[in-house]
Amino acid sequence: MKTITVNASKKYNVIISSDLGGLTAFLAPLIKGDKVAVITDDTVSKLYASEVISALKGYEVSVLTVKSGEDSKNATNFIYLANELARLGFSRTSTVIALGGGVIGDLAGLVSATFMRGITLIQIPTTLLSMVDSSVGGKTAIDLDAGKNLLGVFYQPNGVYVSLSFLKTLPQREIVCGLGEITKYAFIDGRITPQDISEKNYEKLIEKSLEIKRDIVERDEKESGDRMLLNFGHTVGHAIEKLYNYTLSHGECVIMGMYSALNVSKALGYLSENGYNSGVKLLNETGVMPCNDFSKDQILSVMKKDKKGDGDSVNFVVTTGFGSSKPVKIKYEKLIEII
Ligand SMILES: NC(=O)c1ccc[n+]([C@@H]2O[C@H](COP(=O)([O-])OP(=O)(O)OC[C@H]3O[C@@H](n4cnc5c(N)ncnc54)[C@H](O)[C@@H]3O)[C@@H](O)[C@H]2O)c1
Repeated sequence: MKTITVNASKKYNVIISSDLGGLTAFLAPLIKGDKVAVITDDTVSKLYASEVISALKGYEVSVLTVKSGEDSKNATNFIYLANELARLGFSRTSTVIALGGGVIGDLAGLVSATFMRGITLIQIPTTLLSMVDSSVGGKTAIDLDAGKNLLGVFYQPNGVYVSLSFLKTLPQREIVCGLGEITKYAFIDGRITPQDISEKNYEKLIEKSLEIKRDIVERDEKESGDRMLLNFGHTVGHAIEKLYNYTLSHGECVIMGMYSALNVSKALGYLSENGYNSGVKLLNETGVMPCNDFSKDQILSVMKKDKKGDGDSVNFVVTTGFGSSKPVKIKYEKLIEII
């Protein structure tokens, strides 16, 4: 069992364990009142809700379930869950446990951030992507018709419990999505190398990813500087995700977005031909190929609605090679010429 402490506006521990054996002891000091809501999706609920409930003996536990998938990160579910907490008599001392992937983490995170102006939030991530990225750092959000993650707040959890045991039921396609975010870390911080990724030692990859994310969040919690680096591949990735109407997963679209980010980095002179080829090779290893299904105009019109936009420009993260990236301001028209 390993512990990573995040020292942001809230100080909290992230446990990395092989199983749920330490969950009861981890939760005991974090849960203040009697009432606990486990917010989850219908896939994860069937697989793991009872195991988590059995770690919560002595509390009044309610399981609140939404359908699995990105479509659930919406305003209707947000209001439904908040109403359920009110109906169940939740107070400021009650606790929300987000049990699931990034969709549940973001949705349940926003509910706990806003219910009575903020109640205790524990993240128990069950996908590789949520273990290495979304469960830590405090970004919560739902999607609006206009785009992804447009309604949200920064709200750090009170604790995060990562159990590698969840990976045994995770479909290969979801593993690839997690590898996509891990590959992103390899482009922004040298602590994860292409060699590490090819070894696929998940415990090591999760630990290194979380250390990188912890360091960035501690330096720039609200994304006014360094945290933008975590958006490598996401500017185009989010646009593609929206254009596919969320039928492809976030991780797959981010991998496609990283191909574009490599193109832009090379075209603007930040990345050598060799660096570009090595980057493409690493992305190819995920099995996800570049996206050619949409016109430049389609991508441009969605990208302009993204949070990273700033008038006629966008903060775009380019890489100069593995372990080194930086945000640069690029005019949309220039960007669209290149990708
Ligand atoms: N807050 C952040 O910092 C942050 C960072 C990255 C991504 N995100 C968000 O995360 C979301 C993507 O997260 P995701 O990839 O985890 O998707 P997800 O939550 O939709 O989970 C993917 C699928 O795997 C299933 N699943 C989850 N755990 C399982 C398990 N252990 N075994 C079997 N099936 C399981 C889910 O039911 C779902 O069908 C996106 O909405 C994205 O915007 C947020």
